[in-house]
Amino acid sequence: MKKLLFLFDTDPMPSTFDTVVGYDGGADRVIGYGGVTPSNVGALVDGTIFTRGPNEKRHTAIFIGGGNMVAGEQLLTAVSKRFFGSFRVSVMLDSNGSNTTAAAGVAQLAKGRDLGSMKAVVLAGTGPVGMRAAALLAKEGAVVSLTSRVKQRAEAACRTIEARFGALPHPVEAIDSEARAAAIKGAHIVFAAGAIGVELLEAQHWQSQSEIELIADCNAQPPLGIAGIEAVDKAKDRSGKVIFGALGIGALKLKLHRACIGQLFERSDQVLDAEQIYAQAKAMT
Ligand SMILES: NC(=O)c1ccc[n+]([C@@H]2O[C@H](COP(=O)([O-])OP(=O)(O)OC[C@H]3O[C@@H](n4cnc5c(N)ncnc54)[C@H](OP(=O)(O)O)[C@@H]3O)[C@@H](O)[C@H]2O)c1
Repeated sequence: MKKLLFLFDTDPMPSTFDTVVGYDGGADRVIGYGGVTPSNVGALVDGTIFTRGPNEKRHTAIFIGGGNMVAGEQLLTAVSKRFFGSFRVSVMLDSNGSNTTAAAGVAQLAKGRDLGSMKAVVLAGTGPVGMRAAALLAKEGAVVSLTSRVKQRAEAACRTIEARFGALPHPVEAIDSEARAAAIKGAHIVFAAGAIGVELLEAQHWQSQSEIELIADCNAQPPLGIAGIEAVDKAKDRSGKVIFGALGIGALKLKLHRACIGQLFERSDQVLDAEQIYAQAKAMT
């Protein structure tokens, strides 16, 4: 029986990235839908749960993607509500690679270290990756701040994280790189989650701050999010700090993403979200 992965994307067009990784993770066919919302997902879910017998349903799975974390979470809730009894299939939420990227980054930071009581700043943390990274750092016991260029956006992201995970990061407005440099003063961990190709910090901003121990940057496209590092850095010592660049994080992210897709087809009752994907990342690190 063919393994079918239905890609429900909250953006207008289904992601090519998630399509490729769907195949690489073991799906025989990836079927993408764009513009999926809680109000139009019902019939799409019904088609996945009413078509195969109880022992066959594990060959059908749903992947939720798109560039908006809140929309992804709402879609996951709507999909889960449509399930009843044994009429369900396994689902994974990974809006813009949020869970897999944040899990791969934080798991590598936490490997062999206790992040508890460390101060962490997630720069430009209002996107899907930053919101999940902030949540996972808080789960590790770090005291987390999250920056945005706009205070209300930082506050909204922090409230969303609190509603889902029970931990409230501290919202910080940081309009430019000078303000972000001020925001990382006293921090032990800097996690850069800014948009692709956007430099958030100059090299001098972090090199001169003695408290910083760990830096992760998710942006692989030059200019990198943190100047003075390399995308390939993987636990690289620079100026006495341990650095993870986007490709240093990305190798585990891809491995993890593929492994999670494979896991979806093992049973029909799984929900792979931040906690499950992070547990898998820690096991793979
Ligand atoms: N390494 C990997 O394997 C991997 C996998 C997936 C994604 N990524 C990367 O992870 C990063 C985060 O992804 P995402 O989807 O969460 O990001 P995103 O939503 O595109 O952007 C994150 C935040 O960046 C801020 N931002 C946008 N333009 C900016 C500018 N000109 N100056 C300063 N801040 C700006 C915005 O925050 P405010 O408007 O609130 O300031 C935005 O919410 C991206 O660089 C992405 O390419 C890496």
